[in-house]
Formats: sequence, structure tokens, C-alpha cells
Amino acid sequence: MKLQFHRGRRLRRTEGMRELARETRLSAGQLVAPLFVVARGLGREPIDSLPGQARLSPERAAEEAFALAALGVGAVLLFGVPAHKDERGSGAWDDEGPVPRAIRLIKQRAPGLPVWADVCLCEYTDHGHCGLLEEGEVDNDATLPLLARTALAYARAGADVVAPSDMMDGRVAAIRESLDEGGFTDTAIVSYAVKYASAFYGPFRDAAGSTPRSGDRSGYQMDPANLRDALREARADVEEGADMLIVKPGMPCLDVVRAVREEVAVPVAAYQVSGEYAMLHAAAERGWIELPRAMWEAAIGLRRAGADLLITYFARALAERIAAEAERASAEAIR
Ligand code: PBG
Repeated sequence: MKLQFHRGRRLRRTEGMRELARETRLSAGQLVAPLFVVARGLGREPIDSLPGQARLSPERAAEEAFALAALGVGAVLLFGVPAHKDERGSGAWDDEGPVPRAIRLIKQRAPGLPVWADVCLCEYTDHGHCGLLEEGEVDNDATLPLLARTALAYARAGADVVAPSDMMDGRVAAIRESLDEGGFTDTAIVSYAVKYASAFYGPFRDAAGSTPRSGDRSGYQMDPANLRDALREARADVEEGADMLIVKPGMPCLDVVRAVREEVAVPVAAYQVSGEYAMLHAAAERGWIELPRAMWEAAIGLRRAGADLLITYFARALAERIAAEAERASAEAIR
């Protein structure tokens, strides 16, 4: 009798068969592109630790958003780099700050593109912490009104989504209340519900100049050892009114992405953070890995883990690749 065994290779023989058998897909509309917006500057200042990324003037950010929208990218996520920082981070809620200005310009250039604005104080405080400092410690409850005020300024400028990334307790409820009172019942909250105190945020802090002057963020960001804590945070944010959740960082947290996806009913985004992007670029520069393939594998792995959306500095490169692949596949099929 002939030997019987499983021939998994039948479905892997050609790209056409692999395409049919593919379990996880990635489309441009699932990608969110972070952009750094400066109050003033040269228009486009490259960021050394994030190859291919730059600090953009509000005008350049609007151009970039237009190009991303044309590629079908799902949304942009704005971070502000203010001209001045102070103790309270008052630049965060300045209607003429870089983020509100960029939001208004993007809404003119690409009206259909959802604009997300990151809500946090760390880019705006001179000490670099995400909230008000009281005797060396971040004061949770005193920070809430400042975050709410910041979210309101972004909603007023036209943001579709505000995304609190500070990890203060109760900030989703505080922001929801202030948005509703201000008449912005349709502005969505996408909260960084699960944000670990991670070593992978290094390049971001270079880009935004937001490294804490003293101490670190482990008094408010989560311990990377904890999963149950992540589920409690996720449930709490949904109860407080979050419309979608973010898990971050991405690659070190695939199990967390999966668990959160199963825990809540709202869309879940994984944030492939600055250090993950920088690390792939650095290895590729040394010729140790192939960047296009590594970029794709990292992204599809996050989708397979359960992420509905990916926030990634590769958004533009991934969207370009998705467009090129679609063209190549149809050319191949009729060759
Ligand atoms: C602001 C914020 C940070 C990131 C997103 N929002 C920095 C931090 O918490 O230190 C990190 C994003 C990245 O590394 O790409 N609090």
C-alpha cells in the first residue's frame, strides 16, 4: 500500500495557490501612520533614529497626509513637538499649537481621511513626564482636567479621534465627559488601554524630545510582565467610553494583542512602536535582514495575533507594497 501522509505543500506551490490559502490579510485601510508635527522648522527635518521619518511643519504634514490618503491608508496619528515646553505642558491645549494647525490643514487637503490626535503631556512638559509633577511624582487626578482640555482643543480643530497615551487612571471618562459637554459627542476616543513601560519607545523620545528628565514612566505605564493587568485596563477603558483600544508595543506583546482581542468587542489596534521600526531598519542597514520581507512579516504577525488595525511607521511603505502587489498579481495571472 502506498504511504499516506499530509501534503501541506499542495497549497504552497504557486503564488496563486498561496493567495487562496492565505488566512490573514493586510489592507492599506487597516494602517495608521504616525506623523510628528513641529511648531516651526524647516518643513521637513529627518529623524536620525527613525530612518525615512521626519518632523514636519503643519503644511508638510498635510501634504504627507494627502499622499497617505491617496494610497488608501486608514488614518494619520499626530504627535506635536512644540516650540516651548513648561511645567504644566500648556502647549498641549494651545489652539495654535502644531497639532491643531495640522488637523485643520489636513481636513482641507484630505477631508475624508480620519485624523487621530495623540493626547499626552510628555511632549509639552519641561520635565518630560506625561502628567503634572507633585514632589517628584505624577499626580493622577490633577492631570485629568489638563488631558480633557487637550482633547477638547483637538476636537475643536476637527480631529475625528483623540488618543490618550498618558496612562492616567480615569482619563477616558474625563475626556468623554468634556467632549460631550463641549458638543463633541461624535469625536471618538481610541485609548492606549494597554501601554507597557517599554524600552522600545527610545527613538520616539528622540523625535519628540520627551525623555523624562528624571526617573522613568514605570509609575504609570504597565509592567511588561503583566497580562491580567492588561485585561483589566482594557475592560476599564471600554466601560469609561473608549471606542477602540491600542496595545503597545507590538511585537513583544503578541499574546496581549490576542487576549485583548478576545476580551473586548471594540476594534483593537497594535502599535508597532519606534524602537521596533528602528531595529528592523538597523539590522537591514547592516545587511543582516531583508527589510521589505521583515516589514511584511512583522505586520502580518500582528494581524494574525488579532490586531484589527496597525499603527506603524511603515504605513506608507506597506501601503505602497500592497498597491504594487495587487498590480503584480493581476499581471502575473494573465501573463
Ligand atoms: C506619549 C507617547 C509615547 C509613544 C506614543 N505616545 C512615548 C512614551 O510613552 O514615552 C511611543 C510611540 C513610539 O515609540 O513609537 N506618551
